[in-house]
Amino acid sequence: MSQFIIKGGHKLTGTVRASGSKNAVLPILAAAIMVQNEVILDNVPDISDVRTMLHILETLGAQVHFEDQKIHIKTDKLSNKYIPHQEVAQMRASILLLGPLLARFGEVKLAFPGGCVIGRRPIDAHLDAFKQLGIQVVEDGENIHLKAKKISGKIVIMPEMSVTATENLIMAACFCEGTAEIHLAACEPHVQDLCKFLNAMGAKISGIGTHKLIIEGVNKLLGAQYKVCSDYLEVGTLALASVLTGGEVCIEDVSEDHLEMFLYKLWQMGVKFELKKRKLHLYPSKQLKTISNLKTAVHPGFPTDLQAPFAVLLTQVAGETVIFETLFEGRFGYLAELEQMGANVQIINPHQARIIGASPLKGLTVTSHDLRAGAAMVLAGLIAEGETQVSNINYIDRGYDNLDGKLRKLGAKIQRS
Ligand code: EPU
Repeated sequence: MSQFIIKGGHKLTGTVRASGSKNAVLPILAAAIMVQNEVILDNVPDISDVRTMLHILETLGAQVHFEDQKIHIKTDKLSNKYIPHQEVAQMRASILLLGPLLARFGEVKLAFPGGCVIGRRPIDAHLDAFKQLGIQVVEDGENIHLKAKKISGKIVIMPEMSVTATENLIMAACFCEGTAEIHLAACEPHVQDLCKFLNAMGAKISGIGTHKLIIEGVNKLLGAQYKVCSDYLEVGTLALASVLTGGEVCIEDVSEDHLEMFLYKLWQMGVKFELKKRKLHLYPSKQLKTISNLKTAVHPGFPTDLQAPFAVLLTQVAGETVIFETLFEGRFGYLAELEQMGANVQIINPHQARIIGASPLKGLTVTSHDLRAGAAMVLAGLIAEGETQVSNINYIDRGYDNLDGKLRKLGAKIQRS
């Protein structure tokens, strides 16, 4: 199993370009099977979750070519095979195939998905919403089986603003008769990007970016060329690396309205930055102030996926912050690792933890509990005294395209072994 070895204490400086978004490209790849013509995607991150999704699509008969951030995908020979557990268990996002396969074939059978271990993540929201759309849902404990000869447009009220459940519903409803409305829809930037991609293929989705999506059914979609949006979660992680090391980094290709609450929190703490013409410049900032709370929420709130990386910054600022993780109940595992490195943390309950700064961190061997917890360990390693070894980096490789290479380019001492 690979690990990162990081020598802490080096300021990061220079320019780096953000990659395409993991959470946008995965549903977009799933949606590509809704057309028989070729789809060409640009700005695709080279991450293992993308490779896993491509492998599943190839197993179904898709022809795929991935080179230099570009994917060509053709699915005219796609078959509606059962997707077994060993395929979907590798990645929870394989659940995203339900909507498009149903839309294309009127039926789909898939094993229950796997993914990062971050608390209880049921798929009730997906199944409940499918049922509201009139789709027959059969679960046998191991598999999910959906059937719908025709889907009639209806109002669906999402049980919660679940990202992948909303995406599944959007894809399932594209060919509906009449008009479907998805109320209480998730509106994360990656949900918006999926809608824009579907519209580029001929879908008629409006209300993009809001919690109410209106989908006028169309008879067919056509292939398209589309640039995947940049990854605001990677931007946030790299921005924190700059702030933590007291460096001066410019991140290019940043979507200006994807990170507002994150940037507001940085501003509140006294971080100096400028976001202009899709470039985020972070300047060295002295005497940062703590914030009393950091509460995660669905978009446009503070993203849960930046909670762990941000916590590393909170360990470096004098004062107390209560983190309130409102979405996941299993996303504090990384705090035990930070504690061993020297941070002063108290877990109040599965959703709340207190961080008391400022504590110098010392290098240790730590593990990645999930993708974002792994990124937090890398950030901690960049500022820790001595050497930090981060194990289980297969989690990090699932969603960050060449994180170590990007950090090295900025002057970090990080190696893969
Ligand atoms: N939840 C709520 N209230 C809500 C919405 C969600 O409590 O209004 C809870 C759910 O019950 C669940 C958790 O929040 O426990 C996540 O819910 P969701 O169904 O939205 O998650 P997901 O669709 O499975 C996507 C991302 C995750 C990201 C979450 C939350 C993809 C492929 N995955 O997962 O990404 O954490 O949304 O934004 O888009 C990551 O990138 O590291 C990652 C795990």
